[in-house]
Amino acid sequence: MCTAIGSRASTSPASRAANFERIKTRAARLSRFRSFSRRLAVRSHLGLQEGHRMRYLITGGAGFIGSNTVDELVRRGHSVVVLDDLSAGKEENLAEIRNKITFMKGTITDIEVVRKAMQEADYVIHLAARTSVPRSVKDPVETNRINVDGTLNVLCAARDAKVKRVVLAASSSAYGETPTLPKVETMQPAPISPYGVSKYVGELYAQAFGKCYGLDTVALRYFNIFGPRQDPSSPYSGVLAKFCTAFLESSVPVIFGDGSQSRDFTFVSNAVQANLLACEAPSVAGKVFNIGTGSRISLNDVIDSLNKISGQKIAAQYDPPRDGDIRDSQADISQACDLLGYTPEVSFQEGLARTYEWYSATQPRPAAKAEKLTA
Ligand code: NAD
Ligand code: UD1
Repeated sequence: MCTAIGSRASTSPASRAANFERIKTRAARLSRFRSFSRRLAVRSHLGLQEGHRMRYLITGGAGFIGSNTVDELVRRGHSVVVLDDLSAGKEENLAEIRNKITFMKGTITDIEVVRKAMQEADYVIHLAARTSVPRSVKDPVETNRINVDGTLNVLCAARDAKVKRVVLAASSSAYGETPTLPKVETMQPAPISPYGVSKYVGELYAQAFGKCYGLDTVALRYFNIFGPRQDPSSPYSGVLAKFCTAFLESSVPVIFGDGSQSRDFTFVSNAVQANLLACEAPSVAGKVFNIGTGSRISLNDVIDSLNKISGQKIAAQYDPPRDGDIRDSQADISQACDLLGYTPEVSFQEGLARTYEWYSATQPRPAAKAEKLTA
């Protein structure tokens, strides 16, 4: 069995890193054995030859996780269609592979557009969504329209197009405030934000489509994915994108709450690996998987890590907590390791360093926006 990487938000970065390496080695050893036989099973299940070209539709493919997934599919020689309305994603995220894919600007809330994008697709990786928890608290109707109605359109179109499988982006926010850590897929979901509800409803619809129409689906509950191309510019952006750019601008990162809340921050290449494994793994139809690293880190510790990486001494500003915010999050990834052959290859610390480097190389540097507070 593949166990959690690290466990407590309070452990030091060094011991977390050592723990990560230990568990990664153990997981890799087990998974090498399982992966080999699973890969053989996957191939015979799908009748695949090594290098066989498949057609993938990636909804939300111009976004953060989507564009990283598209890159890997193109690298492996697959045919890719991206459907994205560019409400949050950017065509520039696809610039490097633009002439190797089909890009369609359109919305998943229009089923005819979805049907057109899905023509001849073997697999659908459904990522398009409105992704922010606080934005869903502010405007639950629009979040529902995109995340629930849009997902229903994708499932109906996939059923009619007879695709091999739909992999859906679900979310750890489905667990809500259940106090037990790590979160295991067998726990009763109890989302506390409209966003969390919308993502859980997507899972339920997917399972119902399996039962009613025989549609093959797999839902991946991602745990706080971060990395290159995560948009830092919106008030609703993910926290690590905002913190990295704050450090690069030497401006003050804002923490909502006391900073002791923790997340299983997961580098994006781990999520990409999970997406591709989930398309092909045999005997997992209708299942839900946690995708994280199995550890967690508090926001206060993230600030310490960024001070080390950037060689600065910046203190955060503390604002009141956000509505709909959960306190702690940490994935049990045993099921994904066992049934998908998933192994998180990149640790939090390595991922944070790579992400900081990426923003440093790509983001414009405006003058410091706020007075720097030195710790
Ligand atoms: P993102 O905002 O970068 O990507 C979402 C993409 O969907 C964007 O490109 C956006 O333009 C597109 N989109 C939005 N509404 C659309 C519509 N109506 N029609 C077509 N395209 C539309 O966010 P991301 O972090 O890459 O998230 C991808 C998926 O993963 C989402 O479903 C999100 O809920 C889920 N997820 C993300 C995280 C995370 O930590 N990033 C964690 C759990 C789940
Ligand atoms: C994130 C994802 C969501 C996903 C969920 C699952 C985004 C925008 N949200 O939600 O799609 O389903 O993970 O794991 O990608 N915070 C600050 N300062 C900031 C911004 C945030 O302190 O400037 C805090 C928040 O209050 C929260 C934590 O950081 O406690 C994480 O926030 P955020 O990055 O928005 O992610 P989640 O709400 O966990």
